[in-house]
Amino acid sequence: MSDSVRIVEVGPRDGLQNEKTPVGVEHRIAFIEALIGAGLHTIEVGAFVSPKAIPQMVNSDAVLRGVDHHPDSEFHVLVPNEKGYEAARAAGAKVIAVFASASEGFSRANINCTVAESIERFRPVVARAKADGIRVRGYVSCVLGCPFDGEVKPQAVVDVARTLSELGCYEVSLGDTIGVGTPLKAKHLLRAVAGSVPMANLAMHFHDTYGQALANLYAGMEEGCRVIDSAAGGLGGCPYAPGATGNVATEDVVYLLEGMGIATGVDMPKLLAATNAISRLIGRPPVSRVASALNAKGRMASSE
Ligand code: HMG
Ligand code: MG
Repeated sequence: MSDSVRIVEVGPRDGLQNEKTPVGVEHRIAFIEALIGAGLHTIEVGAFVSPKAIPQMVNSDAVLRGVDHHPDSEFHVLVPNEKGYEAARAAGAKVIAVFASASEGFSRANINCTVAESIERFRPVVARAKADGIRVRGYVSCVLGCPFDGEVKPQAVVDVARTLSELGCYEVSLGDTIGVGTPLKAKHLLRAVAGSVPMANLAMHFHDTYGQALANLYAGMEEGCRVIDSAAGGLGGCPYAPGATGNVATEDVVYLLEGMGIATGVDMPKLLAATNAISRLIGRPPVSRVASALNAKGRMASSE
């Protein structure tokens, strides 16, 4: 597995959307710039969703404009409907992400419509984005379990992933929103979805609630998947997925990949500094194992 892997850093969106302490525009921009400085160049920076639903993502337009001058980076923003699309386009978005669910319960809780209705909402968004030269990524949530409906059949994931791909999403990210998956289930799911959407167009977006995310990623990599979503420090979760914790931590993913001989281009000390800075701001230490280990090592070295 010594080929390349693309990391999509989602901390500034998926991470901060679930933090009780709202983080202001300047600090969100500083966090994103620290991540770019650490070598992460594909970053989800905000969401054009209802401010009543996710107040933490208010002012995503200012965040996007504030980082726009980094020509070598690719910034993604979430868009749930045409209203969000218009705001994202006005703020200069070049890549947007629409988000559907494989389960009805989460779809209703998260975006207040059925799965089929959400696809109909995305249809004009994707068509307009295509006409405007904006690329569209797609998410499928609850691919390995739903907080409301329980078990989710792989076929439900296959159907939504295929639909998003047919609509025109260049990549479909498979979200284990509540982090309940285990490696063999992750492997079987990827194999099933890859029967309808080429593996090269799939990404893994695994939350780490049950501590399985790295194992699940490894299993998915064995199936051939080479795109990983992660959040610096293991930040966040989804406010509409009760009990779910953050994404797999970027530090942990980078440590795993580098240990496997896969170069990530990420500077670990700089990533750690970015994680520590945002952790200080939100007032709690990073949940990342690698960040904890490196911070402990740093404390020991400075006390010697
Ligand atoms: P709704 O209430 O059904 O929408 O919400 P509506 O069309 O009836 O409008 C209600 C109000 O929202 C109106 O305002 C609209 O103008 C406003 P009012 O007249 O009451 O003042 N509104 C908007 N405002 C700003 N931007 C918009 C927008 N749309 C409507 N785009 C809606 C439906 C989808 C808008 C809402 O449920 C929503 O915003 N949901 C987003 C929830 C969310 O962001 N969840 C977290 C992201 S998903 C996730 O984390 C999972 C993921 O990481 C993958 C994984 O882990 O699996 C991606
Ligand atoms: Mg997520």
